[in-house]
Amino acid sequence: MTTPTLAPVTVVNHPLVQHKLTLMREKETSTASFRRLLREISLLLAYEITRELPMTLRRIETPIQEMDAPTIDGKKLALISILRAGNGLMDGILELIPAARVGFVGLYRDPETLQPVQYYYKVPQQLEDRVTIVVDPMLATGNSTAAAIDLLKASGAKDIRFLCLLASPEGIARLQEVHPDVSIVTAAIDEKLDDHGYIVPGLGDAGDRMFGTK
Ligand code: URA
Repeated sequence: MTTPTLAPVTVVNHPLVQHKLTLMREKETSTASFRRLLREISLLLAYEITRELPMTLRRIETPIQEMDAPTIDGKKLALISILRAGNGLMDGILELIPAARVGFVGLYRDPETLQPVQYYYKVPQQLEDRVTIVVDPMLATGNSTAAAIDLLKASGAKDIRFLCLLASPEGIARLQEVHPDVSIVTAAIDEKLDDHGYIVPGLGDAGDRMFGTK
């Protein structure tokens, strides 16, 4: 049996990202600050996840002369938010890539089976021709991310990248096991998951902290 080649896992070890992440982890950080910091970090992470986008040259005219200038090739990106916390990452990325097509995947965990159950699914057409970036701040068990990517692949997506703020080693292992072709960009890989599936040391419940719920 051949082992599949694993797509890369990139930790964005940039001082700005790490500084902002530390502020987000602190329990006294307000909802407003948490939301602002998430938007700021999302711009920096988006820079990294779009690094390998295919480029092409387009003939343009500057005020001085014509030139072949680089532009992003292909169909508009698809940006997929895993509800609800994914929206916090997506808002910032859309500022950088305003023409991206946007989709949403809603999943909840069945309390008996602990398996993800789909309650909402709306994604752009022709995913097979697009680079698809899936966003969720927390890669914890990896089950909902893996399930969301199952659905996207069934819709035709082929070039899929996953962007998160924090990842657990367990979540990365799970995603690599079921979707070895999906690259991962994260601001940090934490120590472990606790018994409730929270990332340790983590930052708590990202959705609650972002939306001020409990
Ligand atoms: N989801 C969160 O919001 N936080 C965690 O630590 C794990 C999953």
